[in-house]
Amino acid sequence: MAKVDFGGVIEDVVTSQEFPLERARKVLENETVAVLGYGVQGPGQAMNMRDNGIRVLVGQRKGGQSWQRAIDDGFVPGETLLSIEEAAEKGTIIQFLISDAGQMATWPKIKACLEDGDALCFSHGFSITYKEQTGVDPPENVDVIMVAPKGSGRTVRSNFLAGSGINSSYAVFRDYTGKAEERTLATGIAIGSGYLFPTTFENEVHSDLVGERGVLMGCLAGVMEAQYNILRKHGHSPSEAFNETVEELTQSLIRLVAENGMDWMYANCSTTAQRGALDWRHRFRDAVTPVFEELFKRVESGEETRIVLEANSAPDYRERLQKELDEIRLSEMWKAGAAVRSLRPERRKKA
Ligand SMILES: NC(=O)c1ccc[n+]([C@@H]2O[C@H](COP(=O)([O-])OP(=O)(O)OC[C@H]3O[C@@H](n4cnc5c(N)ncnc54)[C@H](OP(=O)(O)O)[C@@H]3O)[C@@H](O)[C@H]2O)c1
Repeated sequence: MAKVDFGGVIEDVVTSQEFPLERARKVLENETVAVLGYGVQGPGQAMNMRDNGIRVLVGQRKGGQSWQRAIDDGFVPGETLLSIEEAAEKGTIIQFLISDAGQMATWPKIKACLEDGDALCFSHGFSITYKEQTGVDPPENVDVIMVAPKGSGRTVRSNFLAGSGINSSYAVFRDYTGKAEERTLATGIAIGSGYLFPTTFENEVHSDLVGERGVLMGCLAGVMEAQYNILRKHGHSPSEAFNETVEELTQSLIRLVAENGMDWMYANCSTTAQRGALDWRHRFRDAVTPVFEELFKRVESGEETRIVLEANSAPDYRERLQKELDEIRLSEMWKAGAAVRSLRPERRKKA
């Protein structure tokens, strides 16, 4: 492990320098990784491992789009593409990449397929941390491990293909075989992680649920809507309101933050923007801090989990989801966004 100074706090990290791909291949040479679920994470992780020379099987229920997608991605029915149970039986590392509500629903049949010394690998601390609610309580004679990419499964694949990687956290919940940590790190390297950092199942799920409800998605959409609505209320056109709220962020400023950090972006904007942003950042931080406090408490107490499991296990889940997504897509703001995007020079050239 390498020691890295994160703003004055020294933490351990693992990269392919400390744990080369060759070592991961050696650790996994007698293993079969069964990737259960071919939704968002499944394809990225399965294809990256396959490309890295690991023996990979996909377990997916038949018939739907995901099954077909696995075929399109080169997995062969009856050979490397199997039913969930068949794959779970054949795998020695069971990569549980069914949706979190689906993990609860399928757990009894997965549990029945686990053999002594298998590793049950998660990409989220959800099912284990909230096991009172999910019922996912693995037997004592398997390793229970986690590699959790900090990004969408889509970028797990696209970054890998571009020669980069998505960072992942990792944890060992139970080390039955005495090899749980090296199995975890080998899996993390084989799926193409940028760097790996240690966590616990509990810390992973708490930070992840806060992050996606907060800055990454929920807060992001909410503050964008608030600003857009205020500009519209005061007579600004949709094009102007959208450009000042979303397009300038995604096409320009956030890219500078990604490359060089927030201070650098502040240093490279106009002095007028800089002065205002330096002053208003404190107001916004203080305004949302109580909301984040409440969010963290609800994540910690399991209330957010209760809501997720209830909503995502409902038979009409997909229809209800579609309705909510349509509400966003068909709002003036995001229709204006579609128009703005269609005017980007690279898209106009394609048209
Ligand atoms: N999405 C991400 O980028 C991301 C990022 C980090 C970690 N994770 C974690 O990775 C894991 C997988 O997440 P995901 O987003 O990839 O999931 P997802 O796209 O929602 O996964 C759907 C997969 O689960 C299957 N599935 C759902 N319910 C099922 C059921 N009752 N029986 C059998 N199969 C069922 C689906 O099959 P059908 O297609 O047939 O419905 C599909 O293969 C989760 O633990 C998640 O928290 C996800």
